[in-house]
Parts: sequence; C-alpha cells; structure tokens
Amino acid sequence: MTRIAYVNGRYVRHADASVHIEDRGYQFADGVYEVCEVRHGLIVDMGRHLDRLGRSLSELRIDWPMHRSALERVIREVLRRNRVRNGLFYLQVTRGVAKRDHVFPAPGTKPSIVVTAKNTNPAIIAGKNANGIKVITVADNRWDRVDIKSVGLLPNAMARQQAKEAGAQEAIYFDVDGMVTEGAATNVWMVDSDGTILTRPAKHGILKGITRTTLMDVAEKLDLKIREEAFSVEKMLGAREVFITAATSICFPVVEIDGRTIANGHPGSVSQKIREAFFDIAEKTSIW
Ligand code: PDD
Repeated sequence: MTRIAYVNGRYVRHADASVHIEDRGYQFADGVYEVCEVRHGLIVDMGRHLDRLGRSLSELRIDWPMHRSALERVIREVLRRNRVRNGLFYLQVTRGVAKRDHVFPAPGTKPSIVVTAKNTNPAIIAGKNANGIKVITVADNRWDRVDIKSVGLLPNAMARQQAKEAGAQEAIYFDVDGMVTEGAATNVWMVDSDGTILTRPAKHGILKGITRTTLMDVAEKLDLKIREEAFSVEKMLGAREVFITAATSICFPVVEIDGRTIANGHPGSVSQKIREAFFDIAEKTSIW
C-alpha cells in the first residue's frame, strides 16, 4: 500500500512529500505539532489534542493553517487513505516559508501544514506493558517553555538516544532541585506508599499531556487517589509503582530506573487498571 501524506493542500505519496528549504520549521524549529492515537478505527481525544494545538499556535503567534473543522476532515482523510486502524496521526504546523531572518516574516505568510499517519505494532506495545520498561534519569537542559508542543526537540532526541545507549527506553528529566519534570516524550507518574498516584503539576517544567489529562478522568472514575504534586528522583526510586504516559503508549510501567529495580521489578496493578479503562473513558471520534 502506498503511504499518503497531506502537505500544504495536497495529498501526495509519502515518499515524495516535501516542504521548502526555507520553511521556518526546518531552519528555526519554528513550529508546533501533535501526535494522536487511533485505536480500533477511532481517534482518541482529538478534541483535546486540537485544543492544545490551538494553544501552542497562539503562544507562538502562528495562525491556524485552516479552519479547525477543515483540519479535522484532512486528518480523517489521511487516516482513511493510509488505512490506519491502530496507529497514530502526526500533525505539524510551522510559521511558513520566508527568506531566512530570525524575526517573524511579514503578516500574511501562510503557515505550512503536514499531516501523516501510520499503523503501529500492537505486539511491541503489549510487550512493554507486560514486561515494563527501563529508564534513565538526566538533568533537564531544555528551555522554560516546554508547555508549548514545539518541534524544537533536540534535547529530547539527545536524551532518548542517551537512554537507548544505556539499554533503556526513556529518559526522565529532573530539575535543578532534583525534582522530576517529565520524560523526553512522556509525562511521569508514581504511586506512593499510601497508594496515592502523584504527578507534577502542569504549571511549570512539563508539557500538559493529553493522556495525563484523560488519565485524571480515568482515576476519578475508578476511585483512585490522585494528587498533582512534584516528587524527587529519590522519592520515585522508592515508589510502589512508576509509569509514564503519552498518546499511542497510554501508560507504560517502569520497572528499572538508572539500573535500580522499582518495587518488586514487575509492572504494577494501578497502571494496569488505568490502561484497561482508558479507551472506554477517553473521547473517541470515528475516522469515517
Ligand atoms: N510526546 N511530554 C513530552 C515532552 C512529550 O513529548 C509528550 C508527547 C508528552 C505526553 O503528551 P501526550 O499525552 O499529549 O502525548 C509529555 C509525543 C507522543 C511525541 O513527541 O511523539
């Protein structure tokens, strides 16, 4: 099957899809993105993802590339053309193409928009859920606007690479006070000795994950104790359970941090309960 991407108004073969060399996304990482899960042919939490896209765009003063309802139609069309049933769509909007200059281009410069989609391998996700994952901790070296889902992900890419080279699957950042911020591409959670789920407040230092927001709805429905409260790396090492969340992976149990075993070294029951209930509670939109 030929993969299809949407680029600036056209559906093109993925292999031929391209943007201009002076696109500001390419030259300045001047753009934002979203990744959204599709499961059983249903888009998970599209409303919340597009709300966050609107926030990221407005924080950077980039216009919507088209009306939101038109964008929803494009997303569904890309998913249909790629026959995605279990997978994701990726959407990126940049400030557009202009002669290289740090200052913003003239008003009226059209933002660039790219939408791609792919199926993911459920066996890989199931394996991580069954066995848990290993992570490392790294000092957070990012800018202080990580609340914006910007395509400027070089520190995140370097942290993930460092994790991979250490035989781990994710890197968890800590701030100057030794408090956990988030993962290179995930939010981080722990269950304390009293069974309460903790996660850092989304005021500073993290991206307010959509999975994070929906997980709070899930915890409430399941009557789980949950609190937005920052925790240190040290406290996390002594947790009853640690897990990370992001669209497409929902919640992966963490069984080892920096070579140290968490709890009994097996995935915990809280993350499992949440994972099982998540899809039913999240908002779903048909791709048709
Ligand atoms: N990453 N924090 C960071 C730094 C992220 O990059 C992500 C998502 C999250 C979780 O957000 P959400 O629950 O909305 O997916 C938190 C995506 C999946 C990525 O970059 O591929």
